[in-house]
Amino acid sequence: MQQESDRLRGEGLRIGFVPTMGALHEGHLDLLRLCRTHCDVTVMSVFVNPTQFGANEDFGRYPRDLDRDAMLAASAGCDILFTPQAEEVYPPGYSTWVQEEILSATLEGRSRPTHFRGVTTVVTKLFLMVKPHCAVFGQKDAQQAAIIKRMVRDLHFDIELLIAPIRREADGLAMSSRNMYLSESGRIEALALSRSLRLAEQFVAGGGRDADAIRALVKDELNRSGAVTVDYVALLDAETLDEVDMLSGQATLLAIAARVDRTRLIDNTILRVETIER
Ligand code: PAF
Repeated sequence: MQQESDRLRGEGLRIGFVPTMGALHEGHLDLLRLCRTHCDVTVMSVFVNPTQFGANEDFGRYPRDLDRDAMLAASAGCDILFTPQAEEVYPPGYSTWVQEEILSATLEGRSRPTHFRGVTTVVTKLFLMVKPHCAVFGQKDAQQAAIIKRMVRDLHFDIELLIAPIRREADGLAMSSRNMYLSESGRIEALALSRSLRLAEQFVAGGGRDADAIRALVKDELNRSGAVTVDYVALLDAETLDEVDMLSGQATLLAIAARVDRTRLIDNTILRVETIER
């Protein structure tokens, strides 16, 4: 991959990169399509990264279907599908980690303490292997996107980052590879997540600014379904991830995580006071 990237760079081509763990859906293909508008050659990686899964998480059963992924990636215009093996990414005796220490401590980081260390480490390695000019991540993983932005800034990666909007099913459910774990009834109950975000947006559009009131509204909607167990409902500055008490001119991230059918789902929206008031 490094040799191919050197060759492409030598030809003056701009390399775009979309890292994934496979089990591709339309959300991933949106990342590819966005990437293609910003570069000459698009690389997508498929690598189920063991180090970002906790001991009791779903690494073993994470959906894997490389043939299907390859077909979908090609259909969306991927030029190079990069599928490294775990031993290549993590050579024997591997002992070097990349860790962001502030933004990673909250939200997902609280429930999954080693998760972001695994993400920042593998993304760094993939950046060094693919040598992209630009890379695309999804807003669906808002905290991950904020952490990668911070890491790129802190470590002086010469890479332009693009964040693609959340892709939703027609009924509002945010697309995720983990949605396939949901039962038929769980799939319906999971709609409470996007519904609660829409309620919060309406509340803010109607002049609501108080974070406690927004959190209560969202939690009430989630708890209305007995099948949903709330992990967190958080209102944070979208860049620093500092908690917000009152919405102001800054973009505020409303992020939620909940379990449905023992499957952990996350979703979010950005609340913008000025945009909504206009
Ligand atoms: O968002 C993901 O799918 C993963 O966290 C990533 C960025 C591919 C790293 O393994």
